[in-house]
Amino acid sequence: MENSTSFLSTLLFLAIALFYVHFLKSKKSLYPLPPGPKPWPIVGNLPEMLKNKPTFRWIHELMKEMNTDIACIRFGKVHVIPVTCPEISREFLRKQDALFVSRPMSMSTEMTTKGYLSTVLVPYGEQWKKMRRIVSTHVVSPAKHKWFHAKRVEEADHLVRYVYQQCKNVPESSTGGLVKVRVAAQQYCGNVIRKMVFNKRFFGEGSKDGGPGLEEEEHVNALFKVLAYIFSFCVSDYVPCLRGVVDLDGHEKVMKENIGIIDKFHDPIIEERILQWRNHGLMIKKEVHEDLLDDLITLKDGDGNPLLSKEEIKAQITEIMLATVDNPSNAVEWALAEMINQPEILEKAIEELDRVVGKERLVEESDFSQLNYIKACAREAFRLHPIAPFNVPHVSISDTTVANYFIPKGSHVLLSRFGVGRNPKAWPDETLKFKPERHLKEDGSEVVLTENDLKFISFSTGRRGCLGVTLGTSMTVMLFARLLQGFTWTAPPNDPKIDLSEAEDCLALAKPLIAVAKPRCICGMVGMGGDAMGDFDDSDDEEAAKAGQQDTGKAASEAKPQEEGAHKSDGGNA
Ligand code: HEM
Repeated sequence: MENSTSFLSTLLFLAIALFYVHFLKSKKSLYPLPPGPKPWPIVGNLPEMLKNKPTFRWIHELMKEMNTDIACIRFGKVHVIPVTCPEISREFLRKQDALFVSRPMSMSTEMTTKGYLSTVLVPYGEQWKKMRRIVSTHVVSPAKHKWFHAKRVEEADHLVRYVYQQCKNVPESSTGGLVKVRVAAQQYCGNVIRKMVFNKRFFGEGSKDGGPGLEEEEHVNALFKVLAYIFSFCVSDYVPCLRGVVDLDGHEKVMKENIGIIDKFHDPIIEERILQWRNHGLMIKKEVHEDLLDDLITLKDGDGNPLLSKEEIKAQITEIMLATVDNPSNAVEWALAEMINQPEILEKAIEELDRVVGKERLVEESDFSQLNYIKACAREAFRLHPIAPFNVPHVSISDTTVANYFIPKGSHVLLSRFGVGRNPKAWPDETLKFKPERHLKEDGSEVVLTENDLKFISFSTGRRGCLGVTLGTSMTVMLFARLLQGFTWTAPPNDPKIDLSEAEDCLALAKPLIAVAKPRCICGMVGMGGDAMGDFDDSDDEEAAKAGQQDTGKAASEAKPQEEGAHKSDGGNA
């Protein structure tokens, strides 16, 4: 009797267990994975990934062929889920944001973040929470934004002066000069962020014309190289046992070289500054906060100990540089190229600047709220020409269902900045045309660069959304508005139109934009001497430099009360 009871209970237990397993399985299978190419055993679709470069173009072509806005491609054991429409993007980052809060681990991000010590590229967990809190409170807070105002103004003036110098390179300067817009735009971004972080525009002397020296070129090029290799479908990210054993696609070598270059510039400054704050040896103790580095070094935890380790400071600073340098410069380069080919758009933008700002002074941040057309042009550049094909990947922390598809835990969700912004269902009116008017609102209300409905992806949204919206917007609009206000832009003499072809392996202009800039009288506002640009010759250089210094001095002294006030409130939190 006893035997048969225990036999029955075992049977019952097995039946329940089987039912449970079956139920769970069938619950999963209720929803299929998103459509995609059939994976090979073990390696999944890695052979196709290796065969079809660049991977992002292959993925988009595949999705077009399959006529789908969401797909599932298996790289090794990882389910990679690309998405090309706003509705499904919103399901991921608005409706189920909490489940897609993590980031993938990868060779490039581990190297960049010195073992996941920073914010943007760090998987969900305590370290991410700590660093996100620090960045929002001590790096990009409204008080910090005010504190850095003078530095941003200085760099906006410097930009106009530098481009003006390029115009001078042509003998008949009345017809303007050829300007490497990409160099000017990228270096402006590099200068602003170096100024904020290290309180210096240049690591070295800079070049004679006020532009970047070799050091700055090397620094910015290394930042762009690292950006190009972060989340760039490296084989060992999907077959981790290859890491450190064989660098099949050469990504590891490129990353090592370029992180090495960045560290070469950052580390000595960071290390010396830490010693200065600790009053080390013969060094005079630093007491005045001048930049972000000072702030990061002096943050304290509840027990009065340094809140950040040396490695955390280094990793966070590299990440801030990476976050700042690419989006504004790329958007402005593309927008200007598109507008030179559609002069009526260029005219409207200049008309807006002349109406809002006038010709007596240079555009300032306080004007931005009224520069709706300029911001619509920038939005259009973000929609049509994002710097990266995909948003920073999101990783799911549990199984779920999105758009009636099963999304397994650990999936890498890639919202396509390229696909969402060019989706004809979301943008039916001449989808591929650069048309800023589509962003103007009928009621004339303010245009902003954020897009929380994810109809295109600029700053994204949700728990992992961009923390640098204010700074990123300021830099983009200032760079753009100063170039438009200061100069009249046309295609080079032998090219009636700018070639708008996209590079094959990324989304940048295939040929970096070189255009003719003819100074408008407003350039005189940044210490060029005189209001007519034609009268500026070499003998004026010294005068101009002096005037520039005076500008700078004025801006800095004007900002001082803010600086101190802002700093106290921040320091209090530390
Ligand atoms: C026009 C300029 C910028 C654009 C278009 C931009 C765009 C983005 C995007 C698309 C993301 C990923 C969002 C996601 O995962 O869904 C992001 C994340 C982030 N950005 Fe920006 N960004 C810009 C400038 C900046 C600046 C200047 C900073 C700060 C110095 C910054 C700090 C961050 C941080 C901290 C995150 C990561 C948040 C997290 O993972 O928790 N960004 N940004």
